[in-house]
Amino acid sequence: MIGFEKSINNLDLKLFEKISSQTNDHDKQSLLACQLAARELTEGYNYLEIGSYLGGSIQPHLLDEKCLKIYSIDKRPLVQPDERGVDYTYRNNSTARMLENLKTVAPEQIEKITAIDGDTRSVKPSEIKDKITLCYIDGEHTDEAVMGDFKFCLSVLSENGAILFDDANIIYNAIAGAIAYLKQNSVNFRAFSLPDKIFAVEIGDFPIHQNKAILERLLNNYQGYLYSLQSNDLYRQFVNKKPIRFYRKFMTKIKGLNEFD
Ligand SMILES: C[S@@+](CC[C@H](N)C(=O)[O-])C[C@H]1O[C@@H](n2cnc3c(N)ncnc32)[C@H](O)[C@@H]1O
Repeated sequence: MIGFEKSINNLDLKLFEKISSQTNDHDKQSLLACQLAARELTEGYNYLEIGSYLGGSIQPHLLDEKCLKIYSIDKRPLVQPDERGVDYTYRNNSTARMLENLKTVAPEQIEKITAIDGDTRSVKPSEIKDKITLCYIDGEHTDEAVMGDFKFCLSVLSENGAILFDDANIIYNAIAGAIAYLKQNSVNFRAFSLPDKIFAVEIGDFPIHQNKAILERLLNNYQGYLYSLQSNDLYRQFVNKKPIRFYRKFMTKIKGLNEFD
């Protein structure tokens, strides 16, 4: 495991090399930084993931001796709705396929995975037999589903732990809802985004932000900021097309929104 220690300390992308993951390289490194921080803050940690597909985002945790248990919740529908307004199709998406993939990564570790077919509307928190240290939400990309996933994660999380969201540039309204929920319920938290589109919430006393790799990303936070805005630029380009632009100009003028005194 010396090789693993070196790789995780270097946020080495080769920890993701065996199974393709739908995250990009910056996200992968942010996820590795969170894993590194979690393993430094604990003797051993438990990981829960919502939305696993081929198992790509599970593989660094499977390789990690400090990761004691892995829960994967995945509904595996053929078609899944998405806040971008386009449905996404996942063919041949099965738990059996994911486990076969993961066996190629670390066959001797496969027993630490509990894979649950379903979503957080149907799975009961009591099915998660261990307190979870680190959660990662990457299932259905709608605000409603993500909000439900967040509340589920909160219910199975240790007193001190972290919840990560993928695709923050898409499900940002759910993240806003999650933050409001924490405030309403007086939960002690810190929250920040990591490049390119990971959003992290520390709950209780779990200061992953103090990890050097995360701190560096927080200081250079231009990367995720620009990525998120630019990934949504197509919407601005659309509302700037001629007929819509004309309508907007007209309404702005009527309402006097473009005049300053
Ligand atoms: C974006 S993929 C996950 C990618 C994976 N984390 C990776 O890094 O490659 C989304 C996964 O969420 C699953 N999914 C879709 N709707 C879901 C829901 N409501 N609850 C849980 N999982 C869901 C899909 O079956 C799919 O496997």
